[in-house]
Amino acid sequence: METWGRSLGVSPRDLTRWKAAATYHDALRDVDSAELDAGAVFPEATARAWPRRLLHGPACAFRLRNDGVDDRSLLHAVAYHTTGHPELDEMGEFLYLADFLDPGRHFLDDDRTRLRERLPRERLEVLMEVIGLRIEHLVRRRTTVLVETLGFWNRVVRDAGAS
Ligand SMILES: [Fe+2]
Repeated sequence: METWGRSLGVSPRDLTRWKAAATYHDALRDVDSAELDAGAVFPEATARAWPRRLLHGPACAFRLRNDGVDDRSLLHAVAYHTTGHPELDEMGEFLYLADFLDPGRHFLDDDRTRLRERLPRERLEVLMEVIGLRIEHLVRRRTTVLVETLGFWNRVVRDAGAS
């Protein structure tokens, strides 16, 4: 996140926000999902209905907000880092990409290395590939695709001028 932010020339203040998003987004990832209170999620109206394995993002955003963080774009970035959301801004998009392309995770290693190499300059193209891979995976597993994810796909495709 920091390297991408620097290479995009984001302001020092925003770079601090990007680093904070990267630091906190997975803070609750290893907490047993049964321990995450399904009501203690951000924003309450949508995330409450999510599969438990995805709750660590909105649960973390909920805690940050309760601790006084009122940066809506940062809270959104943290909450939607695994699902995507049509209202994610550039910071949220790169957090979404950083989460999927994390070199510390091991799946689709060659594909993910090639996608990382195209960032940050081919942001929308890489986003379409990553969202596509995630949706494809969910469809193959015959599981639900959240409306936030589909909305994210539609928005990115529109931004890319692909439809
Ligand atoms: Fe995560």
